[in-house]
Amino acid sequence: MEYIKLSEQVDLSKVVIGCMRIKDAGMEGEQLLQFVQECLDLGVTSFDHAPVYGGYACEKIFGDSVLRKDPSLREKMKLITKTGIVLPGLKGNKVIYYESSKEQILKEVDESLIKLGTDYIDLLLVHRPDIIGNPAETADALDSLVKSGKVLNVGVSNFMPSQVSMLQSYLSTPLVTNQMELSVQGLDNFFNGVTDDALTRRMPLMAWSPLGGGNVFKNDDGDTTRLRDVIGEIANAHQTSMDVVMYAWLYKHPVEVAAITGTMNINRVKSAVDALDVSLSYDEWYQILAASRGYDVP
Ligand SMILES: NC(=O)c1ccc[n+]([C@@H]2O[C@H](COP(=O)([O-])OP(=O)(O)OC[C@H]3O[C@@H](n4cnc5c(N)ncnc54)[C@H](OP(=O)(O)O)[C@@H]3O)[C@@H](O)[C@H]2O)c1
Repeated sequence: MEYIKLSEQVDLSKVVIGCMRIKDAGMEGEQLLQFVQECLDLGVTSFDHAPVYGGYACEKIFGDSVLRKDPSLREKMKLITKTGIVLPGLKGNKVIYYESSKEQILKEVDESLIKLGTDYIDLLLVHRPDIIGNPAETADALDSLVKSGKVLNVGVSNFMPSQVSMLQSYLSTPLVTNQMELSVQGLDNFFNGVTDDALTRRMPLMAWSPLGGGNVFKNDDGDTTRLRDVIGEIANAHQTSMDVVMYAWLYKHPVEVAAITGTMNINRVKSAVDALDVSLSYDEWYQILAASRGYDVP
């Protein structure tokens, strides 16, 4: 396993387990504990959460099944969670909104600590940019969480480069990562300045939905079929599977990328690990880009 050093205190495994789907997958209790242990055995140490996953359920399922069952696992893992999404009804609200106020952030972190069954978060991310949030207030909350030791590192998610710069300008503590959608089907962030900005800052990215949420495997529209055919050919040439090729495609980018896999299947987690040893050629990388977009680069 390879690790990405975010700071003196925190390094992430390049393969991160996304916990968004644990409720829908019915993962809990002994089955989830065993899955987490198998991930740790592979060197996959990092687990990505958010309060909103599973309609505010997933953090607690993880805490109940894993850390309250075996607290000794805490020191073997890195816990990532997020803050700032308010789902409809939580505060009597009619619509979903993003709130990065100090009150909301501090409250959410205290709740996440309890639900997850830990007294610190390795990495806290502002989940989405809050358009009407006061960045000085957001920064004050994040700095105070780091100072208190409740959070070791902070970062952002779904932030454009200007939004990263703006929030950083108010913060004492460095933003260590930006968690973005990046995959063979999620190409926008390769072309809108996000990856260039990460390289400029020497900032690692975390790729969410690295397999396009699984759609590449199941959708039968023309665009997906064309992409799947090309990925299949390349997988055959490397004597491997399509998911390995899709992870290897991400790892080929010069940005340091941690892939947040959403699978709950340990053999499919192994694909994300195996891909670290697969090197795609320039031709293969651009074939996949062209198949995804439906046209060659000019
Ligand atoms: N920051 C954000 O805004 C944000 C947004 C979305 C997600 N995330 C994070 O990113 C994580 C991953 O997102 P994701 O779940 O969409 O990621 P993903 O890995 O792209 O998709 C996971 C889905 O693909 C399926 N899959 C995986 N390998 C497969 C294979 N070989 N054949 C067929 N199906 C396969 C999985 O099913 P099986 O379980 O059956 O394998 C699962 O349904 C989330 O858990 C969350 O932590 C963050």
